[in-house]
Amino acid sequence: MSLVLLTGGTGHLGQDIVTRLVSAGHRVRVFARSQRPSMRVEWAIGDLATGEGLQAALQDVDTVINAATCSPIAQRGGIRPVDFFKSPAAVDVEGTERLLALCGQASVQHFLHVSIVGLEDASLPYARVKLAGEHLVRNSPLPWSIVRATPFYYLLESMMAGVAWLPVWPMPTTIFNPVDTSDVADYLVRCAFDGERGERAEIGGPDDLSCVAFARQYQKARGLRRTILSLHLSDATGRGMGFVASRGVRGRLTWRDWLDRRHAENRAAA
Ligand SMILES: NC(=O)c1ccc[n+]([C@@H]2O[C@H](COP(=O)([O-])OP(=O)(O)OC[C@H]3O[C@@H](n4cnc5c(N)ncnc54)[C@H](OP(=O)(O)O)[C@@H]3O)[C@@H](O)[C@H]2O)c1
Repeated sequence: MSLVLLTGGTGHLGQDIVTRLVSAGHRVRVFARSQRPSMRVEWAIGDLATGEGLQAALQDVDTVINAATCSPIAQRGGIRPVDFFKSPAAVDVEGTERLLALCGQASVQHFLHVSIVGLEDASLPYARVKLAGEHLVRNSPLPWSIVRATPFYYLLESMMAGVAWLPVWPMPTTIFNPVDTSDVADYLVRCAFDGERGERAEIGGPDDLSCVAFARQYQKARGLRRTILSLHLSDATGRGMGFVASRGVRGRLTWRDWLDRRHAENRAAA
């Protein structure tokens, strides 16, 4: 079985990747800034933003899955004015560059990079940072793959929870298909070991719907009654904001089922 180094293994997507790698019998080493005692993996402690710990982390590694990111929007679960002006590049660009250089000196057979659907048209600085990270991977002499995914349900949920207090929710009518990290993790683990390389088919969720429709489903699942104000954006503006329907592979878990599952988990925890 191969030894997989996973960056971002403590994140939303990363934890789902870890579960699948471990149950498929792979040796998993998670590169992170600190350990999570609940996760039964090998740990390599370091920091992509400085390069600390990276060289040692790559020892004997065959496959690297690069799922680390520094997205202030995802971390806080909402957009602020500052996000329209800047986004840190130390992890997604400089960190990716460091990692690629060290992989070249190690015995890495496959560098699988996680990215986002529709970056070319997106206007937020975070999208430009992610695109710069992708370019580094494409120009690397390593055997690489890039998998792009649409926005994750957890992020959509945080954003809707963030406006829950508003009596009126302005929501774009642009069609897109967010996806769950469990479906993306299934696909990534397949891509890691299927022998193919290069640009892989992108992955999105099963339902192509407007943000208005996703918001209605969210309100129903949470028992909320708020007025939804439809925002009719041009296609270009919608794509610029990251609302894109993916082509390619489709996940299976719907937003409605994901919300029900979350509701049940929250009730069980309470
Ligand atoms: N969120 C979305 O809607 C979405 C959609 C499509 C694609 N993606 C892509 O999917 C991937 C995972 O996204 P996610 O939302 O699951 O991310 P996330 O939950 O925000 O997790 C980010 C991960 O990056 C790690 N990380 C951050 N800074 C680091 C540093 N300086 N050194 C080492 N590790 C660092 C974090 O580790 P610690 O904080 O534990 O150190 C964490 O494990 C990313 O490539 C993202 O661009 C995300």
